[in-house]
Formats: sequence, C-alpha cells, structure tokens
Amino acid sequence: MDNLNRPENMARINTPALAEQFIEEQIKALRAQIGNDKVLLALSGGVDSSVVAALLIKAVGKQLVCVHVNHGLLRKGEPEQVIKVFRDEMNANLIYVDAVDRFLDKLAGVSDPEQKRHIIGEEFIDVFAEEARKLDGVKFLGQGTIWPDILESEAGIKAHHNAGGLPEDIASRFELVEPVRILFKDEVREVGRALGLPSSMVDRQPFPGPGLGVRCPGAITRDRLEAVRESDAILREEFAKNGLEGKVWQYFTVVPDFKSTGVKDGKRTFNWPCIIRAINTTDVMEVTVEHLSADFIDHLVKRITTEVPGINRVLIDYTPKPPATVEYE
Ligand code: XMP
Repeated sequence: MDNLNRPENMARINTPALAEQFIEEQIKALRAQIGNDKVLLALSGGVDSSVVAALLIKAVGKQLVCVHVNHGLLRKGEPEQVIKVFRDEMNANLIYVDAVDRFLDKLAGVSDPEQKRHIIGEEFIDVFAEEARKLDGVKFLGQGTIWPDILESEAGIKAHHNAGGLPEDIASRFELVEPVRILFKDEVREVGRALGLPSSMVDRQPFPGPGLGVRCPGAITRDRLEAVRESDAILREEFAKNGLEGKVWQYFTVVPDFKSTGVKDGKRTFNWPCIIRAINTTDVMEVTVEHLSADFIDHLVKRITTEVPGINRVLIDYTPKPPATVEYE
C-alpha cells in the first residue's frame, strides 16, 4: 500500500461526510489490496478492531475471518455484543473461542501483577495462533494499528508489535492490512459511527488489554472476578442512567483480595469490599478524580452491597495520578 503514512496536510476526519469519504476510499484500497484472498482478524470488540472489522466486512464480506477470544476477563455482555453486532447484524464470518477455563486455569494462584499480564498476553497469542493454524489459504492479517501507535513506536515509547507478537511461523505467513493506520483515535470513532457501529462500542471508555484481571488484584479467583464483573456492570448501568456516560473519562470497580466483617439480616458476614474509581484526564499522565454526588454514591453502595454476591462494603478511591496509577496493577 502506498498510504502507509499520514499525509502532513491531511484534514482531521471530524464530520460524518469526511468519515464517509474515508470509508469509500478505504473500501477501494482494501479491495485492490486483498483481491479474492482471505483476511484474518483478532476482534476484541474494542474500538479499533471493531472499526477495522466493519471496514473489512464492507470491503470484502465473507473473505474476512474474525476471531473473538473470550479470555474470561471481559466485561459483562461484551462477548455477546461482539457476536450480536458482527455475526447476527453484519453477517460476518466470526469464530468465537471460549478460552475462559484455559486462561483462568493458567492464572490460578498467580499474584504477581507483571506475571499476570505476561500470562494473559502469551495465552492470547497462543489461542489466536492455534486458530490461525487451523485455517488454510489466509493471506492477510488485519490489525487495528492507529497513528499514535506508529508515532509512539517511532519515538521509542512503546513497541508496536507487527502482527501482534505472533510466533514467526504464523506472522511470516501473512501480509498486514491496517486500514485505520493513519487515523487518530477520535477519527477512528467518527469512522465507526459512519459505519453504523453502536455507540456502546465506538464511544466506550478505555479498557485495558488484560481486562478485569487487573481489577481483581492478586491471584484471580472465579468468585472474586465475578464480583468485579457484576459490580462493574452496575456501575456502568448507573453512570449511563445518570447522564455520566461519556462525561466521565473512565470509571470502574476493583475488588481487592481481603475481607472484612459486616452484618446482614442480623448475621455476621465476612466479605470483600468493592472499590469505585471514577477519573478524568486529557493525557493519561495526570488524572483527576470525578467527585460523585453523595446521593449517587448512596445509591451505588445500596445496589452493589445488595446485588453483588461476596461484597459487604463499598469504598471510593479519591486518589489522583500521581501518586496512584489509574489501574491497580
Ligand atoms: P495507568 O494504570 O497506567 O493507566 O495509569 C492509564 C490508562 O491506560 C489503561 N491501561 C491499559 N490499556 N493495556 C491497555 O490497552 C494495558 O495493559 C493497560 N494498562 C492500563 C488504563 O485503563 C488507563 O486508561
């Protein structure tokens, strides 16, 4: 492809009309590049991979093979949404891999944060590579690389993994297809909207690759992970209902690995606390805390302590970054 770099004078794609124009151009370029061959894509359901999938579906339809790996650390409803949007509504060729047990078994008893991240990353590559090896005649690998990835990798800030760190025998089989490579994040969102992707996918808050795994500090257990997932779902539902979705930059819950005494129906309980973190930032280097109203906090405390098994206390994290980071691990 000749459009590997963002032209210096390229206008910011910030209107539906400009997004449409980009989509038309990309569809032509993708058809020219791909011809009658097949493309493989790891589809997480995040903004970038979802927009790449939607573009490729428009351009080459069933020649695209999407692989969605459920590693058990996704938010409530995420795998279902990927299947609904891409398989049911867009009629995509989608392979859904339920790797929940595989990931959680590998992570059992592992409490070191870096080791947890490493296991999640390695296992993801293994699962994806296994699926890739099963498929014959795939020439291309789609990737949701965006322009800041290229800039950061050129500046030596973050390694940009070509072919997502896949083993050489797999990576060398493919040519890369990176249709949003020259776009900034806000432009990817604009293109996603023009492609008809739902707002819950296109405008969603940042979510780390290791998923809920970093919000279940220490060794992950299935019951504590479920408490993170359920409390996160309640928090997201309440933020949406109260007009805070899209206004607050990132909000989530953490369930730490310690218990405290409580009381329910006159009986002693001994359960985990749930920590609420809601923050705002422009550059992610410095982060401020969103000050939630007392009534809203009361409501969240009530819902989380009554609806989430294993939680008997709710705490609010009021720490900016620095000194704290956004995530706990
Ligand atoms: P920290 O914890 O470093 O987080 O202050 C800053 C922002 O980055 C997100 N984050 C990640 N995103 N993979 C990602 O794609 C990761 O491993 C990861 N770790 C943190 C975090 O959610 C926050 O928005």
